[in-house]
Amino acid sequence: MSTETLTITDNRTGKQYEIPITQGAIRAMDLRQIKTGPKDFGIMSYDPAFANTASCRSAITFIDGEQGILRYRGYPIEQLAEQSTFLEVAHLILQGELPSAPQLRDFVNHITHHTFIHENITRFIDGFHHDAHPMGILVSTIAALSTFYPDAKRIFDAPARALQSHRLIAKTPTLAAFAYRHSIGRAYAYPDNDLSYTGNFLNMMFKQTELQYRPNPVLERALDVLFILHADHEQNCSASAMRGVGSSLADPYSAMAAATAALYGPRHGGANEVSVRMLREIGHVRNIPGYIKQVKAGEFRLQGFGHRIYKNYDPRARIIKRIADQVFEVTGKSPLIDIAVELERIALEDEYFISHRLYPNVDFYSGIIYEAMGFPLDMFPVLFAIGRTPGWLAQWQEMLVDTETAIARPRQVYIGSGQRDYTPMAER
Ligand code: ACO
Repeated sequence: MSTETLTITDNRTGKQYEIPITQGAIRAMDLRQIKTGPKDFGIMSYDPAFANTASCRSAITFIDGEQGILRYRGYPIEQLAEQSTFLEVAHLILQGELPSAPQLRDFVNHITHHTFIHENITRFIDGFHHDAHPMGILVSTIAALSTFYPDAKRIFDAPARALQSHRLIAKTPTLAAFAYRHSIGRAYAYPDNDLSYTGNFLNMMFKQTELQYRPNPVLERALDVLFILHADHEQNCSASAMRGVGSSLADPYSAMAAATAALYGPRHGGANEVSVRMLREIGHVRNIPGYIKQVKAGEFRLQGFGHRIYKNYDPRARIIKRIADQVFEVTGKSPLIDIAVELERIALEDEYFISHRLYPNVDFYSGIIYEAMGFPLDMFPVLFAIGRTPGWLAQWQEMLVDTETAIARPRQVYIGSGQRDYTPMAER
């Protein structure tokens, strides 16, 4: 008998089953053979929120949440944040390997020349109310892009897939910046192809009357590193949405609109926004103990703390904390940083946070940097979406070419009424 198996005894029947274990997992479908009789459907696994269910096999991102390790395609996040660029990381995530110099030139060239959006999309953005949340605008305009690119339906054609990926990585910052300019009633600043990916994004966000916008190199690099840190995070809520919608063979724009919508919520990418709102609400370090008391009483959660996977310090938060110092040298120190550092110190010494294994996550410090750089709060999840775009696309592509892929369709444990007869209205 192989030792890489699990023996299950069904106490209802006394029967034993031997189930293979592969890479630390059993196949849930192997449970189906466990039945009390021929009419029995067989056992399912019940796993709300997929807390212990692997939905796919993936070669993109490795996370060890116990030890606080994050790697893209095997490369530690610390090395990529130190030595790489966002577009190089995007290539790595999408193609599986770091690009050679000519490959990178080619990739950057493709992305740079797809930054413009159709003028009809700008008119579509014009139609939103002046105070529309930019994340709502982003979700809608990403979905709208699918109507402009009918070739996006050719999802099993590798060059067509690559083209849509280039378009999405290139156009997401343009949509994001235009959404912001619309919300403040300022004319759109068109892409400047002489600038870097993040330099151009800062240009589209903040350009005023100058002939050519010159990004501050420290802020340009800081944003590039922040995008690297957000580029992928394996099967999180938004990546699962991307894969789930993509598994119905929808085009990548529609699937990415769904992923962006998933990111919008405060339990996911919206946490950087609410985390800064929370720090503002706390207002002063002296208010921290009282605030922590309320969190422990279950009145609300400490935003930017805790993670489904990390039960240790989120390695991205550690890098972001370092970038904050470089950014503050240019922008001046954010008053929120002292509150954040003290909040972290007190929380990490507190029995509640220790026993619940709650540490700062990526959203705890990123919002403070974005705020110092001049981004309004409601743009924070939008920034997250720009960084996460290559990850979503890599997950989508991996899902499509996986021979085991089928339409995502979980089971349920039905707990409703048994069959009953329709009651006429007069008898209810
Ligand atoms: N503050 C206080 N208590 C918390 C927090 C928090 N931030 N997070 C979890 N807990 C507590 C819960 O109350 C629960 O306590 P209990 O067992 O005593 O009832 C326990 O820790 C487990 O919480 P769950 O919600 O079951 O943990 P889960 O893994 O499902 O949640 C999540 C992870 C959603 C990130 C959660 O920690 C949270 O809500 N954090 C705040 C929001 C946030 O920062 N989100 C960003 C996540 S990172 C990202 O998406 C990029």
